[in-house]
Amino acid sequence: MNDLEPLVQEAHADFAQAVTPADLENAKARFLGKSGRITEQLKALGALAPDEKKARGALINAAKQQIEAALNARREALAHAELQTQLEGEALDVSLPGRQRGSGGLHPISRARERIEAIFGSMGFDVADGPEIETDWYSFTALNNPENHPARSMQDTFYVDMKDEHGAWLNLRPHTSPMQVRYARAHAKKYEGAAVMPDIRVIAPGRTYRVDSDATHSPMFHQVEGLWVGENVSFKDLKAMYLDFIRAFFETDELKLRFRPSYFPFTEPSAEIDIMFERGPLKGRWLEVSGSGQVHPQVIRNMGLDPERYIGFAFGSGIDRLAMLRYGISDLRLFFDGDLRFLNQFE
Ligand code: DAH
Repeated sequence: MNDLEPLVQEAHADFAQAVTPADLENAKARFLGKSGRITEQLKALGALAPDEKKARGALINAAKQQIEAALNARREALAHAELQTQLEGEALDVSLPGRQRGSGGLHPISRARERIEAIFGSMGFDVADGPEIETDWYSFTALNNPENHPARSMQDTFYVDMKDEHGAWLNLRPHTSPMQVRYARAHAKKYEGAAVMPDIRVIAPGRTYRVDSDATHSPMFHQVEGLWVGENVSFKDLKAMYLDFIRAFFETDELKLRFRPSYFPFTEPSAEIDIMFERGPLKGRWLEVSGSGQVHPQVIRNMGLDPERYIGFAFGSGIDRLAMLRYGISDLRLFFDGDLRFLNQFE
């Protein structure tokens, strides 16, 4: 054992005591730093005779290497310990159940609308969409509802503080019926001059607005307009088509349908469509689901078509009403309150 051995032992002990990287660097300085113990030994070499210098130098270097090895070993140990603590601190319990993410769902009105679109789609009807802010002409005049006609106020229309190019106030459409004229005009224009025009068969579902609010009326509600125009259609087509639709919608054939005389300015004759379930909780009561009728000749003219040649049938049904009947809901306002306890039931 040489005289440097205790110094090496001391360094081992000091390094072992260091618990942080900073402690360790301080300990290192005491042995290997500028005025550290090993450095002092090396400085002292200068005073020795050349032959002694070599042997002593080798001894000091060996001690230095041992101390450096001890230092590196401790560094690694500390780094490992630090990683270990970090891993333990960030430990994940992979057996914990995950947090559920709500998947959302379609609103019952959207579900009803999609059903309606799918059923009419399967019967060869196009699905059209149009503006909710409408001109006076499309909402009323084109539908044979002249200015100052009492039916205009009958519909309790919301007007918009903006005028169209004829100086008439714009309105929030009180029904989807303007879409009859919009769609038919575009269709007629497309086939202008053609020898034959394919029948117009379209539904137009969407939002409608009226100044009205109670358990069965909302200022914003939904309708679906239906229109079938051709050279060779009759009331029986309307009846057969509506019966097919309503049976598919409610998924039952045990359902009757009747037309009850009514009045609308844009149809002549006009009828309300009532249905009656022969089974289930609503059994035995006539329920009104739609307005309908043969399109008035003046409206056919406003579509850009000749009423002597073309005949049309139309209907306008309340989507909210159909959804209420389908899901057994008694208060329309539930649809629009945004209460998740209600809405979640339809997911
Ligand atoms: N637009 C009418 C309403 O809002 C409903 C309606 C009646 C639509 C007869 C029609 C129809 O297409 O032929 O009450």
